[in-house]
Amino acid sequence: MGSSERRFEGKVTLVTGGASGIGRATCIRLAEEGAQVFATDVNSAGLAETEAVVKDAGGAIQAGIFDVALRASCFESVQAAVDAFGRLDVLANVAGIVRFAHTHEMSEEDWNITLAVNLSGPFFMSQAAIPHLLETEGNIVNIASNAGLMGQAYTAAYCATKAGIANLTRALAMEYMKQPIRINAIAPAGTKTAIATGVDFPADIDMDLMKRYSGMRGLSEPADIAAAIAYIASDDAKRVHGSIFSIDGGVTAG
Ligand SMILES: NC(=O)c1ccc[n+]([C@@H]2O[C@H](COP(=O)([O-])OP(=O)(O)OC[C@H]3O[C@@H](n4cnc5c(N)ncnc54)[C@H](O)[C@@H]3O)[C@@H](O)[C@H]2O)c1
Repeated sequence: MGSSERRFEGKVTLVTGGASGIGRATCIRLAEEGAQVFATDVNSAGLAETEAVVKDAGGAIQAGIFDVALRASCFESVQAAVDAFGRLDVLANVAGIVRFAHTHEMSEEDWNITLAVNLSGPFFMSQAAIPHLLETEGNIVNIASNAGLMGQAYTAAYCATKAGIANLTRALAMEYMKQPIRINAIAPAGTKTAIATGVDFPADIDMDLMKRYSGMRGLSEPADIAAAIAYIASDDAKRVHGSIFSIDGGVTAG
């Protein structure tokens, strides 16, 4: 990991899901590039570790426990970031969950929480952030997935939310086309994080149906995805708007 670029000097970035995986790697990458990072999550221990790693490397970070599944918490987290650092330039909606299940056995609770965290959360975060981003000419980076671009077995709720994120991204891009903000999404496939490596598969799943999602090039590193988020969020991507940018080792190529 590491970058000699300082594309986020003077910029304030809010990263949800900052306690782990891609969110943590994003906090590290953005801070390395000079950003002031406000990291949120529901996992306080993980968040403290992210804070420590960033600070040890000389980065600027503050963190707060906020739950993206709750609309009020989304608004409070955006206000907390602005209170902490005085402005907001980038919102990275990284927090997400996956629940594997045979669809006919999936609980209503698992369906509802998947939608709340993966889809409603980024929507409410965007609602809260957009007025600030319009002031700074900032941008939003959402995290979709290969599972939002193709059907994936045993994860119908997850697939629905990630497809939803892809079109939420395009819808916001169209709505704010004439204003100076950008809205994009990254679509990773299997990445070495808790979501992918700690999967709790239900009994009796057919692994034949799962094979194609792992692709032929292995898993990505969280830092690979963070590098793409940093690119999309930076001025290097000033012409990138409404894009769903696959970083998936070719999983969705064919
Ligand atoms: N790892 C992969 O293979 C992969 C592939 C495609 C997309 N993604 C997406 O990348 C994003 C990051 O996931 P990851 O792979 O780093 O997994 P991860 O489990 O390591 O990180 C997810 C983080 O989200 C946090 N979170 C969960 N519920 C929350 C809530 N209600 N409010 C705030 N934070 C909450 C978790 O505590 C955790 O820190 C997710 O949106 C995921 O869907 C991951």
